[in-house]
Amino acid sequence: MTLSILRHPQADMASELRHLARDAERYGDNKDYYGQGGLITDFERDIATMFGKPAALMLPSGTVAQPMALKIYSQQRQGQAVLLHPSSHLLLHEAMGFEALWGLTGIHVGDAERVLTSADLKAVEPQQLQHAVALVIELPMREIGGQLPSWQDLQAQVAWARQHGLAVHIDGARLWQCPSYYQRDLAQIAALADSVYVSLYKDIGGIAGAVLLGENDFIAQAKLWSRRAGANLISLYPYILAAQRGLKDNLPYLPAAVAYARELANALATIDGVKINPNQVQCTMFHLHIAATVQQVESVRECYIASQDIEVLPRPRATVNGHSVCEITVGRNALSKPVEFWLAHMRACLARLG
Ligand SMILES: Cc1ncc(COP(=O)(O)O)c(C=O)c1O
Repeated sequence: MTLSILRHPQADMASELRHLARDAERYGDNKDYYGQGGLITDFERDIATMFGKPAALMLPSGTVAQPMALKIYSQQRQGQAVLLHPSSHLLLHEAMGFEALWGLTGIHVGDAERVLTSADLKAVEPQQLQHAVALVIELPMREIGGQLPSWQDLQAQVAWARQHGLAVHIDGARLWQCPSYYQRDLAQIAALADSVYVSLYKDIGGIAGAVLLGENDFIAQAKLWSRRAGANLISLYPYILAAQRGLKDNLPYLPAAVAYARELANALATIDGVKINPNQVQCTMFHLHIAATVQQVESVRECYIASQDIEVLPRPRATVNGHSVCEITVGRNALSKPVEFWLAHMRACLARLG
C-alpha cells in the first residue's frame, strides 16, 4: 500500500466492512430505524456530552446540516439573511443550496484571504443587518490553511452577534483540530455558539456523516427539517460504527498531530519555491503554496507515487497568485515517520519540477 503523508491509515473497503461487522456484533440486530434505536441514541448522546450541548442529531452530511440550522434561526427570528465569510463552504462548495433550496440569503463579512475578525463585523452597515438572523463562524478556516481567530477575538465576535440579536452557528467540520490552539476542550469551544456542526469523516476518518448540536428545542426542530429534507435515513448504522471506530482510533492522536504539523510545516518551509499558509500552523492542517502550475505539481506527484510508492502531496486544490495550493492534513500516517523522512521525500519530489 502507498505510504502517505496525508490523514490517517484507511483500510480498503472490504477490510473496513469486516472491522465494522465485528463492532456491530455488540449491538445484536438493533439497527437504527429513522433516528430511533440504541445505537444512534447512544451515539448522539455521547457526541452531545463531548461537546457539552443538551442534544445532537446525526445527519448524512454537513451540506444538509448547516442550512437546516440556519433555516431554524430564520424561522425563529423572522428574517432570512445569514452572515458568512467569503470562503465559507456554503458559498463555495454547495452550489448555493442555502439560497436555492432553503430560501436564505448571504451577507459576506471579512476578507477571503484572512481570518474573520470582530473588526470585520463592526464594519457591517446597520441596514445590512435588517433581515439578519445568524452569524456562521468556521473553525478552523479551511480555505486559508486552517487558521483560527484568537480566543479573545472569537469571544468579541460572539458578543457582537449577541448584541445584534443574531444566533451563532459554528461550522466545525474540523473543530476536532482546535482544542490544542485554544487550550480549551471541545465543550468550551462549542459553548460559544448556539449550534455546532461537526464532521464524522474529517479528522476522525469515518465513512461520511455529520452531527448537529444544540439545545433540545433546536434539535427537535432540526428533526422536523431533516425529515422534510430527506436526511432522516431509515438507517445510518454503518456510518455510526465507522465514526465510533474513528473516534477511538484517531481522535486521541490529534493533539500530537497539531504539534507535529507545526514542526513539519517549519521543515517544509525550507524548500525553495514552497510557502506555508499560515506561517504559524495552528491546527493539524496547513497549505503548501508551490511555485508551479497545477499540471506540473500533478505530474511530479503522480511520478513520485509511481516510482517510490510514497504520496507526499495531494492533488492541488486551487491556484493563488500563480502558486498551486496543496492541503496537508496531518494524522497517524504522517506521525508514523520522523519529520526528516517527509522533508527528504518532499524535497526529492519537488526537485522533479526542474
Ligand atoms: C468547512 C466545511 N463545512 C462543511 C462541509 C460539508 O460537509 P459534507 O461533505 O459532510 O457535506 C465541508 C466539507 O468539506 C467543509 O469543509
